[in-house]
Amino acid sequence: MFDQLLRHFDTVRDRKITSLFDQDKKRAITFSIFQEDLFFDFSKTNIDKATLKLLMDLARSRRIFEARDAMFSGEPINTSEGRAVLHTALRNLEGSPIYVDEIDVMPSVIQTLEKMKDFSERLRSGHFLGQGGAITDVVNIGIGGSDLGPAMVIKALAPYQDGPNCHFISNVDGSHIHDVLSGLNPETTLIIIASKTFTTLETMKNAQTAYAWMSEVVNDPSLQFAAVSTAFHKTDEFGISRDRVFGFEDWVGGRYSLWGPIGLSIIITLGAKVFESFLNGAHEMDNHFKNAEMVENLPIILALVGVWHNQICNYSTRAVLPYDQRLSKLPAYLQQLEMESNGKGVNTDGRPLNFHSGPVVWGETGTNGQHAFFQLLHQGTRIIPCEFLVAAQSHEAYLDHHHKSLLSNCLAQSEALMLGRNFEEVCSKADKDHIKREEFENQARHRVFPGNRPSTTLLYPKLTPKILGKIIALYEHRVFVEGKILGINSFDQWGVELGKELANELETILLGNSENKDLNTSTQNLIKISKTMR
Ligand code: F6P
Repeated sequence: MFDQLLRHFDTVRDRKITSLFDQDKKRAITFSIFQEDLFFDFSKTNIDKATLKLLMDLARSRRIFEARDAMFSGEPINTSEGRAVLHTALRNLEGSPIYVDEIDVMPSVIQTLEKMKDFSERLRSGHFLGQGGAITDVVNIGIGGSDLGPAMVIKALAPYQDGPNCHFISNVDGSHIHDVLSGLNPETTLIIIASKTFTTLETMKNAQTAYAWMSEVVNDPSLQFAAVSTAFHKTDEFGISRDRVFGFEDWVGGRYSLWGPIGLSIIITLGAKVFESFLNGAHEMDNHFKNAEMVENLPIILALVGVWHNQICNYSTRAVLPYDQRLSKLPAYLQQLEMESNGKGVNTDGRPLNFHSGPVVWGETGTNGQHAFFQLLHQGTRIIPCEFLVAAQSHEAYLDHHHKSLLSNCLAQSEALMLGRNFEEVCSKADKDHIKREEFENQARHRVFPGNRPSTTLLYPKLTPKILGKIIALYEHRVFVEGKILGINSFDQWGVELGKELANELETILLGNSENKDLNTSTQNLIKISKTMR
């Protein structure tokens, strides 16, 4: 199927996307999907009906629907770790049974959610107190999936915040914890240690430092610590009472974990109603993914557009461009979701992939990016498919004129990327401005836009908890479908291990506890010079 798609691409690679609109007057409708309150437009791509058919045939040949059903029903599809993949259970609030090893996981999921609600309400209502009274600040210490999701959601849903302020510490760089804690009062701060494994070096070091910081003032700091983990024996060792420990199972991957206890900082900051609405939005997307026909199935279509651009057209990166300041952490969140999931070199059988793995994902909010890297998007030699996200309206009704500027900019960019501006068009503009052609032609060459650059747009009414839940679940399922099409296990992450191991060895060398015999001479030299610089 890949070969057929590559041959098809050869025949269409030079055509203009605009010509597809000329040929099909209904293209804007045909190549877009309304999924209730989400609208996804992929008409500004070089995909036509034949392309879409080939892509859907590819998806069918990869038994996408069977794979999806296996995931939802708790089969151990994370084969390299022998685990089920059931983050979807965390948002199944109706509680319909889901079995792992013949045990229904839902009662314990609901019980943990109730425990989170109870704890967060006690804290928010001033019944759970710190040594200095009501908790004013919550600090989430975690990294990767134990940080990016909650940090992204709390920022995205800022208009809904009615609880304490939430801060995030992730980096082992001491400047991070220093800067965050120096603004806080230990007597009214709750620290959440969020770590699935409770062994992650950065998180454990930061947790110890935070404990020491608090113990300078607070008689029993452990009372102002909570933990989120799958490893109860480790949270016990740390000394956190089980009533403030929120557990989850190994069938929730780190980068898929914000829906459960890793969302503790979200529920404390935004409240249970907002958190449940966020979960319900995601659950709606799960139902859509489970039930919609392929041609209307948003996660599948997003994935197929992704495969078309990445594996077939060979565009190696994808820009995520939220025209929504509150989604400023979405690109970083999606980097982990997509690149940790689909950045693999072998298929599920351990054989090398014979095409590229998932793309490099990067991005920034609009309009900021326009004044930074959009130059390259428009005129650079590489083609970078762009994914625009934008709300029809903002939360700040009184600033609607700002929102109209934002929206116009977003729409203008996708239009400009596709249309471009050729030499003749540039020169005719000079004619209009009564500038002599001969004087203008040299500069005109710099003012040409090649155009024909693909983009998609996801439009939503407003960034509410429910919409955000839907969007994040949409991206999760898209990553799953892309991974399945590539034959990848999207749920392990062995590629992070080597660097971790070497960092541990290097730390012992830097501490002077061992020698650097086996290190590459470049690294030895860097150690030597760093020592002279200290
Ligand atoms: O670096 C890899 C990773 O395991 C991520 O997948 C995960 O989200 C992160 O580290 C944090 O892990 P933990 O929650 O176990 O501290």
